[in-house]
Order: sequence, then structure tokens, then C-alpha cells
Amino acid sequence: MKATVCRKTHFNAAHRLYNPTWQDAKNEEVFGVCSRPNYHGHNYDLVVKVTGEINPETGYVMDMKNLKTIIENSVLKKFDHYNLNVDVEEFKNQIPTAENIAATIWKILKEKINPDFDLTVVLYETERNFVEFSGE
Ligand code: NI
Repeated sequence: MKATVCRKTHFNAAHRLYNPTWQDAKNEEVFGVCSRPNYHGHNYDLVVKVTGEINPETGYVMDMKNLKTIIENSVLKKFDHYNLNVDVEEFKNQIPTAENIAATIWKILKEKINPDFDLTVVLYETERNFVEFSGE
């Protein structure tokens, strides 16, 4: 019997969408105001979903306290109140779009969570724009 447990959290971060192999004009054409050189911020909402068998002894898929701690230590400490382009190693060579941020968070968490479980990351960049990533 399977269930999905979900943990919702959030972080604030700055970014800039910019492809260094393009001229500024093309960056502006593709990314618009998101490519402005001095960065801008978002209040990201993050939902992490873990699907697996309910353990008959605990009644849990996984202990939500553990999931909370894993997200705090491996994602929030790394992303919250940072400039993603400048401060976060994974975005030195990767444009920090919501798609790439969600995929990066998924890869970080995948290593920390029981491999028998299915993992999905949902990242809201705004209330209306969000991306879901469940692995390659
Ligand atoms: Ni943005």
C-alpha cells in the first residue's frame, strides 16, 4: 500500500537568467527583465513529494521530521538568502531557471532519500508559475 508524503517549505533567493554564450541583446530578447544585470529575487515555494510503501510497523512512508531536516540541511542552507548565480556552485555553469533549480534540488535530495522511494520536486517561482521535476 503506497502513499505520498509532501513537505512544503520556502526560500528566498536572487538570480539572473543569462546565457553567457549570447550577446546581451539576445539575452534580453529571450529572458526579458529576468536578464537584468543586477539580479532580482523570488520567494520560492518548494514542495517535496516522497512516494513509497507505508511501513506497517510505523504507519509512515518516512518520518516527516527526517524529511524536514534533510530539506533544511541540504537545500535551504545552500539556497536560502543567496544569489543563485554567484553563490551556488551548481549554477556556475547552469542558468538558474525554475526548471534547473527544481532539477538541481531533486538531484541533491535523491541522494539523501531511500532509493526505493519515488521523489518529485515542485518549485513555485511565483504563485502562478511552477515547475515539477521527477527525475530524468
Ligand atoms: Ni526571476
